[in-house]
Amino acid sequence: HRHVAPATAERVQKVIAAGDLSPQMPDYEDLAAYRARGGYARLAAMRAGELKADDLAADVEDAGLRGLGGAGFPAARKWQFVRDAQGPRYLAVNGDEGEPGTFKDRVMLEATPHAFLEGTLLAAEAIGADRVYIYMRDEYPAILKLLAAEIAALERAGLVSPGFIDLRRGAGAYICGEESAMIESIEGKRGLPRHRPPYVAEKGIFDRPTLVHNVETLYWIARIAQEGPEVLNAFGRNGRTGLRAFSVSGRVADPGVKLAPAGITMAELLDEYCGGMAEGHRFKAYQPGGPSAGLLPATMADVPLDFDTLQPHGTFIGSAAIVVLSDQDSAADAARNMLAFFESESCGQCTPCRVGCAKAVQLMDAPAWDAEKLEELAQAMADASICGLGQAAPNPIRLALKHFPEETR
Ligand code: NAI
Ligand code: SF4
Repeated sequence: HRHVAPATAERVQKVIAAGDLSPQMPDYEDLAAYRARGGYARLAAMRAGELKADDLAADVEDAGLRGLGGAGFPAARKWQFVRDAQGPRYLAVNGDEGEPGTFKDRVMLEATPHAFLEGTLLAAEAIGADRVYIYMRDEYPAILKLLAAEIAALERAGLVSPGFIDLRRGAGAYICGEESAMIESIEGKRGLPRHRPPYVAEKGIFDRPTLVHNVETLYWIARIAQEGPEVLNAFGRNGRTGLRAFSVSGRVADPGVKLAPAGITMAELLDEYCGGMAEGHRFKAYQPGGPSAGLLPATMADVPLDFDTLQPHGTFIGSAAIVVLSDQDSAADAARNMLAFFESESCGQCTPCRVGCAKAVQLMDAPAWDAEKLEELAQAMADASICGLGQAAPNPIRLALKHFPEETR
């Protein structure tokens, strides 16, 4: 679904003319190209009352669309919470794709930013949003420029009122991808996660009801509006329904974003979508959903990859960031590296996470891991941390102890 208009290369060059961006910036589908294939027709239909918000919400539900930032919360249910609340309401787009190994949002934005923007405006209409905030990570400077240019093009075309979409730049903090920390940052404060409840659907930006969606979730809303719920629910495998955009990296022959049926197993994904392992490497382990998901051994490559299916194994699919390790990698070192990442990205607000991550790294640096002490620490972090960072940080420790005992003692 990547459409490249001949004029876009020149246009992209103009967008990046400031010279501080990668010359590798790919062509993308601009406003004219997107409109030429029917883009923004569904938004016009909604504004004209021909497409009802209730009908779009029903299609989103039928499609089985779940939050694709990683948590998988049903999108239509979030809409309902926010629509039921008293206005003014806001829509906040989480474009802080910080989970190591995740790059699907970036690839979608680089190819077709207007599918994402139309999905954003459709969701804004559906919940009656007064304003849209897009929080985009600073590590994607080309996308920040591209989005600024395309939002300006939308304003010039009269498709959105000037100022309705407020494009905000992150500042490199992983924690600002946590939705309430992102909201603090949008409000101009330090990005510290809030306690929940209240959920952001009830009290979000400036304590107003706020719909928070990830970039990819909004991209699919446009496609559901255009193509119907079948665009997602016609796919699936091993008893699961939908499509997942796996960001695959590591020791595979052909890494990249793979749009594959939900429920596909790691073995199938590797074989059918990634050209198998890179030459000279034997499959040893995989990270199914970013560092917070830890590592599973190759012997567990037959588990369907989807929301809910990995929980019994002490992990989750999250943002579907798959990193493949080989016989040349150490699983224990990788797990230690994940904790070192959490230690450096912890916001420091609560003790179990701030002290726990640092202590875990020390314990994992020992020649033999003290399993009992690590488990005690893991339990305290999981039970008492304020947000997902500290709550999920123990996963890599526990999974390494369970599945790679020969490396940890
Ligand atoms: P969560 O399950 O607590 O919440 C998910 C969403 O549902 C949130 O928007 C929340 O406000 C909403 N929600 C949940 N229960 C609700 C209720 N009872 N009423 C109203 N709204 C409700 O998960 P969380 O902590 O927001 O996200 C964790 C996920 O984020 C993990 O799966 C992790 O993989 C992923 N993640 C993704 C990153 C990325 O770069 N894409 C970075 C870091 C983590
Ligand atoms: Fe901050 Fe960690 Fe506590 Fe989250 S769990 S609020 S990142 S210290």
